[in-house]
Amino acid sequence: MIPFARGRLPVVGHFAAYARDSFAFLEEASRVGPMARIEFPVLKAVLVNDPDLVEDIFITQHRHFSKDMFARDLKRVLGEGLLTSEGDLWRRQRRLAQPAFHRERIAGYADAMVSATEATVDAFRHGERRDLHADLMKLTLQIVGRTLFGVDTHALADEIGEALEAVLARYVDPIAMGVPHWDKLPTPLNRRFVAGVAQLDRIMRDLVRSHRAGKTGNGHDLLSMLIAARDEDGTGMSDDQLRDETLTLILAGHETTAIALTFTFLLLARHPDVRAKLEAELAEVLGGRSPTHADLPRLAYAEQVFKEAMRLYPPAWSTGREAVTDVVVGGEPIEKGTQLWVVQWNLHRDPRFHRDPLVFDPSRWAGDAHKKLHRFAYWPFGGGPRMCIGHGFAMMEGVLLLSTIAQRVRLSIDPGHQVELVPSVTLRPKGGLPVKAERR
Ligand code: HEM
Repeated sequence: MIPFARGRLPVVGHFAAYARDSFAFLEEASRVGPMARIEFPVLKAVLVNDPDLVEDIFITQHRHFSKDMFARDLKRVLGEGLLTSEGDLWRRQRRLAQPAFHRERIAGYADAMVSATEATVDAFRHGERRDLHADLMKLTLQIVGRTLFGVDTHALADEIGEALEAVLARYVDPIAMGVPHWDKLPTPLNRRFVAGVAQLDRIMRDLVRSHRAGKTGNGHDLLSMLIAARDEDGTGMSDDQLRDETLTLILAGHETTAIALTFTFLLLARHPDVRAKLEAELAEVLGGRSPTHADLPRLAYAEQVFKEAMRLYPPAWSTGREAVTDVVVGGEPIEKGTQLWVVQWNLHRDPRFHRDPLVFDPSRWAGDAHKKLHRFAYWPFGGGPRMCIGHGFAMMEGVLLLSTIAQRVRLSIDPGHQVELVPSVTLRPKGGLPVKAERR
């Protein structure tokens, strides 16, 4: 019998403890054992805390699981795009999108990533205070627009950002987890959500229309490829499907990377020794010139810094699955319909797998020792067939943007500044990240 996490109350279950401090509750629940039962008024879930069991769910027995109820709910925003679709539709769409993420294709995006970053960072004035998270969101949006869709999202950045804020706000409303059907009521938050989705919908449909008409795109970008794709019977993709894929790739392809970099710079500001070592590597490898794809193998420390930041602050902080049949996991019967919840945040900070887990130490990724780590003890990009399609893109982008920015500016954060984490669909810093920029 799987034990309950502690702190369960009548009627609300664990909801009060979760709403008080989500991460403290989940960390505490992870100590109950390899699995722990969690109950909210809207959710009955099993928290899975053992990498072997995670492997069983995401790889060995993946056919017994679908995405979870939260991913299903996300269809209200993303429709049937790559992140949320299932079965044959997902398989076909993944196959069609895959070529845009091949190694050689991604290498071709490097220069666009660096030049967009240089333009962004060159606008930082010496001594200026900025919201780094907002800057990075715009930058990564611009990069995904330019590289994958051959469009300039500059003019759209504010509109997309605003719509996205409205949409994501609903996913952090703790009451939605505690009160059934709360999300169907016409509260201000829910009305903003509906308006935000409508705004994103209109932007994406305009983009698909102008691409179809040849007014945007370069003919071989990802959206052009999807538009040109034909089934065996010669039919192409509907505008609805193209809208869903475009929105999914634009959202999944920029917010996570922006978050990973935001936390990277937070950690660098708090660890001057790491920053000094990174700056020394940049000076040695680049000597002041712009990084290119060919430099990546030598920007080893930059990669370690980026990986380590994603260990402590995984942008996709938790992932869920739903059992589609009765199934046995870790010797325990799991009923069809059960939600299984795996929290990367916990596994990445678990002392069973990571020495001094709360210490920011990029050098733990040097040498070979980390290669023995269980693949589900560190998995910022997920695992199994639904692993992130953009992980190679994101790693390259992370290292190039980090190197380009750190080469040109030093960002500091007020020592007293407390970062409040928001466990939305992604892990967000509440109110962004205020930094002071010094030109180097
Ligand atoms: C640091 C950056 C990123 C992180 C941490 C991240 C994380 C993840 C994770 C954990 C999943 C799996 C979700 C699950 O199993 O339920 C995922 C899926 C996905 N990601 Fe990423 N991602 C990142 C960047 C990107 C980029 C740059 C793109 C596209 C350009 C992208 C597009 C996608 C898509 C389309 C899926 C769904 C794949 C499928 O189900 O076939 N991601 N991502």
